[in-house]
Amino acid sequence: MKIAVLKEQADGERRVSATPETVKKFIALGATLAVEAGAGETASIAEAAYAEAGASVGDRAATLAGADIVLGVQGPDPASLAGVAPGAWIAASLNPFAERARIDAYAAAGYEALAMEFMPRITRAQSMDILSSQSNLAGYKAVLDAAAEYGRAFPMMMTAAGTISAAKAFVMGVGVAGLQAIATARRLGAQVSATDVRAATREQIQSLGAKPIFVENVAGIEGEGTGGYAGEMSPEYQAAQAELVSGHIAKQDIVVTTALIPGRAAPRLISAAQVASMKPGSVIVDLAVEQGGNVEGSVAGEVVVVNGVKIVGHRNVPSRLAADASALFSRNLFNFLNAFWDKEAGKPVLDTEIGDAIRLTQGGKIVNPRLIS
Ligand code: NAI
Repeated sequence: MKIAVLKEQADGERRVSATPETVKKFIALGATLAVEAGAGETASIAEAAYAEAGASVGDRAATLAGADIVLGVQGPDPASLAGVAPGAWIAASLNPFAERARIDAYAAAGYEALAMEFMPRITRAQSMDILSSQSNLAGYKAVLDAAAEYGRAFPMMMTAAGTISAAKAFVMGVGVAGLQAIATARRLGAQVSATDVRAATREQIQSLGAKPIFVENVAGIEGEGTGGYAGEMSPEYQAAQAELVSGHIAKQDIVVTTALIPGRAAPRLISAAQVASMKPGSVIVDLAVEQGGNVEGSVAGEVVVVNGVKIVGHRNVPSRLAADASALFSRNLFNFLNAFWDKEAGKPVLDTEIGDAIRLTQGGKIVNPRLIS
């Protein structure tokens, strides 16, 4: 059982899909590990550390030759997989809706493509969930990015020269990223408020010492929502939310938006008029910018300034913390393959609950119901 670890090729991708720690663990299971030269460089992992962990380090062709499982952070370009035989697995974040042509090419080549972001949200899969591990870091980094762009301090400071008041931070969307953003902004000393459409988040916001800002008297999502996810809200709810946000946002110094709806464009939470109502020097970080954006005027990969308000739209925020993001992503992949490792067969054998959820292609065909309409 040969596992190949590739150097990522996508622009700006600094993460890697295996660390020396997970290489060692895979080898302990009986696998052979091949790591492409330079794979860990941007995540601050020395090549020698992979070799010491027991992997062979070589060029892409040597890494891929005869590989049974190819690991990646993002899906590798199908044209770059020469030497990988039909039947091999490709396990990575495959972005199936946006990268459909790539998935079709995996199918045509006979690969079994496993989309790690389709991992079901069930208790036993928590340690395999790349969306959680990466969102958590993104929520943290979003607040640090806001602090770096903000021309003032976060905490209240009493100095001989007078008092500086605490920054007011508002987090919109309280999933994994939003909860970490609240905790981080609190640790930095900001006064934090937060909102979500899922009623279950109200208590979570309070337990982190932040103030919940919720639409009242219009039905939101009671409890957790299907699989923990939100859906699209009614026009009535959207109007009430816009009004509530308008009143609140004008008083904020920092806003972090994280709202996503699986398989759809991100909901628009902040209009250009609401941006215009904010004070010059305020900072908005739009973590949903690559899914269409929560903020009108945010641009992927740019910091836009509108009337003195900065709208930060960094792409691939987890990659901005490449070392930690790689460590967690790699453990997610190991936890996944380890959970299904069949000692007698010397390879992982998936069950239907998780296998059917994440498998996109098999036997030359697209097999995932989410991609077959
Ligand atoms: P997400 O990344 O899909 O969305 C982020 C947040 O935006 C969510 O809280 C969502 O409710 C909110 N949102 C969507 N539309 C909105 C709108 N119009 N206005 C305001 N907020 C809006 O969600 P994420 O972070 O992936 O997690 C959602 C839930 O799933 C959490 O409760 C989490 O605990 C649960 N979860 C469970 C896991 C497991 O059991 N294995 C693993 C990961 C998460």
